[in-house]
Amino acid sequence: MGVELNMNVGAVSLILVILWSIYTAESTFIDVVSNYGAKPDGSSDLRAPLLYAWREACKSLTPTTILIPKGNYRLSQASLEGPCMSAIDVQFQGYIQAPMNASFFKDSYWVVFKYVSDLTVSGSGVFDGQGAASWGNSECFRTKFCAVHPINLRFDYLNNSVIQDITSKDSKQFHVNVLGCRNITFQRFTVSAPEISTNTDGIHIGRSDLVRILDSRIETGDDCVSLGDGSKNVYIERVMCGPGHGISVGSLGFFQGEEDVVGVFVRNCTLTNTPNGVRIKTWPASQPGKALEMHFEDIIMNNVSFPIIIDQEYCPWNQCNLKAPSNVQLSTISFKNIRGTSASREVVRLVCSKGFPCQGVELADINLIYQGLDGPGISDCANVAPILSGTLNPIPCTASFTRIVQA
Ligand SMILES: *[C@@H]1O[C@H](CO)[C@@H](O)[C@H](O)[C@H]1NC(C)=O
Ligand SMILES: *[C@@H]1O[C@H](CO)[C@@H](O)[C@H](O)[C@H]1NC(C)=O
Ligand SMILES: *[C@@H]1O[C@H](CO)[C@@H](O)[C@H](O)[C@H]1NC(C)=O
Ligand SMILES: *[C@@H]1O[C@H](CO)[C@@H](O)[C@H](O)[C@H]1NC(C)=O
Ligand SMILES: *[C@@H]1O[C@H](CO)[C@@H](O)[C@H](O)[C@H]1NC(C)=O
Repeated sequence: MGVELNMNVGAVSLILVILWSIYTAESTFIDVVSNYGAKPDGSSDLRAPLLYAWREACKSLTPTTILIPKGNYRLSQASLEGPCMSAIDVQFQGYIQAPMNASFFKDSYWVVFKYVSDLTVSGSGVFDGQGAASWGNSECFRTKFCAVHPINLRFDYLNNSVIQDITSKDSKQFHVNVLGCRNITFQRFTVSAPEISTNTDGIHIGRSDLVRILDSRIETGDDCVSLGDGSKNVYIERVMCGPGHGISVGSLGFFQGEEDVVGVFVRNCTLTNTPNGVRIKTWPASQPGKALEMHFEDIIMNNVSFPIIIDQEYCPWNQCNLKAPSNVQLSTISFKNIRGTSASREVVRLVCSKGFPCQGVELADINLIYQGLDGPGISDCANVAPILSGTLNPIPCTASFTRIVQA
């Protein structure tokens, strides 16, 4: 009887404590400096204070804000993992630097957020990957699949999350990698790295559904945004790209078991001085696959080389069997209202697979001016019969430079 009473009293007080904490703290606030002793002195490691703050936030039953206040921090590495009990907002206001020496890193990330729902990463903070010494490393230059250098920010298996206002600077490898996410939005996001930074894609997406990249500025040495296999429902809107290598789907078909790409919507973007504009690329002699529903609309090209590209013979290191066609079927693709200037004579390249000619390609209102002495602009088309409409300059896939159309 007495024991039972005690247990009841215990259970009731536990419930009261929980109710009290929900009542008194609509949301919890943690400051890594005042609560966990982080030092914005540019040399103390932020890792332990950040992990302690994360642990507290993650088990909190009420939404929690973690603040990294203004100041300079060094951060060796951090993996911030869920699942968590409630929403978390991490506000980075500080300037955070990674170790300069790449051999410090045993994993492919500097900072990763993993298995979390309802995460917000915000603030005017900067993640400085201090990558300059790593760029041009020969091993990473020859192959895109370079695991030795860390990615500045990884977002793995997040749901319903927002990344906003922060900056990724001078990453050693990709700036951002998005994997296995559902419903993640990047807004007012900045990527900043010089043109010479090799292999530093701005935002790479793979195996994720509903990804938005909005109102962002990406300046880097590789693709501004690249979409790998399994990218579904990706919206890229009002993004400024350049320097950088443009906005790319692919390269697809390299690995066995790649997932399809379905639903890519690139709108109201501006590309400046990039060596490619909007591009879909697949390897020759590739694994089978599909990519469909890809739409590029209202895009301004400023001095872009090869502004519009479908390349199913993508072979950057000349180690492919170009005789065997790509086995990736591309379909329902549109390029609409794309205007500006081209830095290359070849303005439109639609080189599709002879094994799987492109289906349902549409071009409308293309006005891309090439001003070279060998002008005007031309197109290179193969295994595609695009539907043309609106004002077209140049008129693609009809000129004498056009290859035989088989589709
Ligand atoms: C980087 O770290 C590795 C391993 O700790 C060391 O051998 C190398 O000398 C360091 N490089 C520089 C430039 O400090
Ligand atoms: C994200 O959503 C998927 C599908 O609903 C679910 O299986 C997964 O557990 C969720 N992840 C988290 C961290 O809540
Ligand atoms: C996506 O996530 C946001 C929160 O970040 C939420 O407000 C919105 O309802 C979610 N949308 C879908 C389709 O799940
Ligand atoms: C998107 O581009 C179209 C065509 O240039 C323009 O009419 C529209 O105002 C733009 N929208 C935004 C939100 O920038
Ligand atoms: C245009 O692009 C070409 C090739 O990338 C470059 O050499 C040239 O400097 C650019 N022109 C301007 C005005 O930026």
